[in-house]
Amino acid sequence: GLPTRVRIHEVGPRDGLQNEQAVVPTEVKAEFIHRLAAAGLPVVEATSFVHPKWVPQLADAERLFPMLADLDPRHLPVLVPNERGLDRALALGARRIAVFASATESFARANLNRTVDEALAMFEPVVRRARDEKVHVRGYLSMCFGDPWEGRVPIAQVVRVCRALFDLGCDELSLGDTIGVATPGHVQHLLAALNEAGVPTSRLGVHFHDTYGQALANTFAALQHGVTTVDASAGGLGGCPYAKSATGNLATEDLVWMLHGLGIETGVDLERLTGTSVWLAGVLGRPSPSRTVRALSHK
Ligand code: HMG
Ligand code: MG
Repeated sequence: GLPTRVRIHEVGPRDGLQNEQAVVPTEVKAEFIHRLAAAGLPVVEATSFVHPKWVPQLADAERLFPMLADLDPRHLPVLVPNERGLDRALALGARRIAVFASATESFARANLNRTVDEALAMFEPVVRRARDEKVHVRGYLSMCFGDPWEGRVPIAQVVRVCRALFDLGCDELSLGDTIGVATPGHVQHLLAALNEAGVPTSRLGVHFHDTYGQALANTFAALQHGVTTVDASAGGLGGCPYAKSATGNLATEDLVWMLHGLGIETGVDLERLTGTSVWLAGVLGRPSPSRTVRALSHK
């Protein structure tokens, strides 16, 4: 059966904007996040405390995060790759973080300059210290289905790193289809394998990119399997600077349209959300790729 409620983990301001070539003004980012929260999104991933040379778009994290002081930091996760990033995030009052691992060696190298196991070792003190401070920790696992350099990713490889992230102490884990090559049968095979390996489905989220137009179908497959946390980005913004061929994330509007149609609650006001994406598309100077945004804004 399907769940009665889904928690949408909004990644537009982080996964979406990190891929924009032109630097977006910090004030625009702050307004974007405020509008997303006002549209009812329960979790809005705000920024990353990574090396500014690796992701120049998010180099303003120190200026942005304090502009969100009127929002509850427990609902504003930030990406943190290492202890340096954790120090920066905690100094500003962040209360929810995400570390980000890879199921493949190629992407671990490209994204973190580490092997898979070196990256896990880098996260160990981050997760331990965060938990000591009662900060919620999400683990991302990228390249769970396919990798641009390595092709189809063996399920056993994904299961191993998934378990390692939970062993470190992550509260939840997001399964990333970073380049958007997953199809629904593959999603179900992976979820079944994780279930068999003792990974609790209630602590899994799914993170689909829409490169081949499969993101919604993949989400539906995951919901049928008991997943209730779904990542999406407003207007379908996004991609990944270190994963060639990745396009935008599943658009939050497309997801909300499907979920509400199924009678599944999200707490999101679709009209306000669409208005936000239309506004941001105006700022970025290009229309949103989301079908739902297009349909609702031309009604
Ligand atoms: P490195 O070059 O190996 O860094 O990069 P290092 O540890 O050797 O340190 C080198 C210098 O960087 C040092 O300075 C550090 O202090 C500094 P120095 O002593 O030479 O003056 N440094 C930092 N400065 C600020 N903040 C920090 C930080 N860390 C070190 N946090 C590193 C390693 C992890 C830092 C780098 O690879 C990095 O920042 N990577 C981030 C890449 C990224 O953000 N990618 C996008 C997010 S992942 C994603 O989008 C996928 C996802 O959406 C899911 C999916 O779709 O699959 C989540
Ligand atoms: Mg992503």
